[in-house]
Amino acid sequence: MRIAVATDHGGFILKEAVIGAIEGVGHDVVDYGTDSAESVDYPDFTETLCRAVQEGEADRGVLLCGSGVGVCIAANKMNGIYAALCHDTYSAHQGVEHDHMNVLCLGGRVIGSDLAKEIVQSFLKAQFVGNQTGQERHARRVGKVRKLENGKSLR
Ligand code: RB5
Repeated sequence: MRIAVATDHGGFILKEAVIGAIEGVGHDVVDYGTDSAESVDYPDFTETLCRAVQEGEADRGVLLCGSGVGVCIAANKMNGIYAALCHDTYSAHQGVEHDHMNVLCLGGRVIGSDLAKEIVQSFLKAQFVGNQTGQERHARRVGKVRKLENGKSLR
């Protein structure tokens, strides 16, 4: 897969480890910056990464900021982006398997590089299960999320 990576200054400390983790399991990285610890605005980098996912230039993305919260909020404002802040490996794979997560968010001021690598690799190994027999409920639930995304009501 092609995996987009973007960060602000708060997540920059994890960027190298995240790129190494992605390449280490055989995926290609598209690096959208930032390239230093100089202060920048996380929504700018979030938009660039999410456009790449929306337009098919990347299959999935990893977004970093200080807490992981800012990039996660900004990413989820964009159509077709299913972003989640995961600081544990269970959420990182289950979010893909059940919820169709396509962007993983991490906080560079919250977790260390070894845990970040394991979380990234759990995220990349996982596949959505909603198209498998007996797992249709997950596709139904994601379909409902898409309706909310498009301004429709479930009531
Ligand atoms: C930057 O100082 C910080 O606010 C940002 O990286 C992020 O943590 C926002 O959620």
